[in-house]
Amino acid sequence: MSEIRPRPVILDTDPGIDDAVAILMLLGAEEIDLQAITVVGGNVGLRNTLRNALSLVELAGRTDVPVYAGAKNPLLTRLVTAEDIHGAGGLGNLELPVPVTNPTEGDVAEVIYRRAQEAPGELTLIAIGPLTNIARAFLAHPDLPGLLKELIIMGGSVGAGNMTLAAEFNIYVDPEAARIVFGSGVKLTMVPLDVCNSHTLKMKDIEAIEAVGTDCAKAVGKLLRYSHNVSTRLGRDGCPVYDAVTAACLLRREIFELKDCAIDLETRGRLTRGRTVVDWYGVSGDQPNCAVAVDFEIEGYRDRLIESLSRLR
Ligand code: BDR
Ligand code: CA
Repeated sequence: MSEIRPRPVILDTDPGIDDAVAILMLLGAEEIDLQAITVVGGNVGLRNTLRNALSLVELAGRTDVPVYAGAKNPLLTRLVTAEDIHGAGGLGNLELPVPVTNPTEGDVAEVIYRRAQEAPGELTLIAIGPLTNIARAFLAHPDLPGLLKELIIMGGSVGAGNMTLAAEFNIYVDPEAARIVFGSGVKLTMVPLDVCNSHTLKMKDIEAIEAVGTDCAKAVGKLLRYSHNVSTRLGRDGCPVYDAVTAACLLRREIFELKDCAIDLETRGRLTRGRTVVDWYGVSGDQPNCAVAVDFEIEGYRDRLIESLSRLR
């Protein structure tokens, strides 16, 4: 009988509260082989995102997963951060011990390329921060998009933005990088802001997560309570955990509804910089370059998160 090999995955992230939940969700997923975590400046500066990634890997007891430092700044501009949403250090009021492990030496673009070359057509990238690291890798290795099985991103919005009226945070921070990625020909899935906002975790979901009782589940409970408070302050019902929804799209694609569309990016414009422009009705005549998530089942996502947390310590 042939054994099913876990799917090779590299996660690119800027932790960040919802990144932290996604990281733990993926670290607890047995059906994937998480080969590396590559870190980018985003929600907070690279020093903090890197420290957070290392602390989370240690919390989960998964120091077998190497963590690499990627880009500090976007391709062409200065970094814009989001401490108002994620707290000064990036993880709300969750205090984790200072990590004792160090980042693994290596250039992120080369790490991703080498892993993709080892198993052509098998490696999935999941990117839940600004797309700077991914664009750098694609620029350094133009054949890389064709070597990947898929790239799944949290980013973009099809309705209102959360950073400006038109733009979502991850795309807004580095629209030039996003444009390179969307134009690369990679098999792309986008989990936009809108779909994540359409089903949020409520207090009863947070309590169910905490009831798992593990250290990781308690940490996620603390992160989600912080996020829930921020959401309530912003007048929302429940908390959207964007990056964890995106991790669910990797782990349980069957609970998502997706639509193939042509998407282009606006990199200029006083009101439109960072806008993802989606051709829902085939108006442009362009071939679809992206599968856009338009709906998902909240229970399936919450249960998958709980399943991962039950497997961690
Ligand atoms: C995205 O931006 C960040 O603040 C979150 O971590 C998420 O990746 C949501 O717009
Ligand atoms: Ca993120």
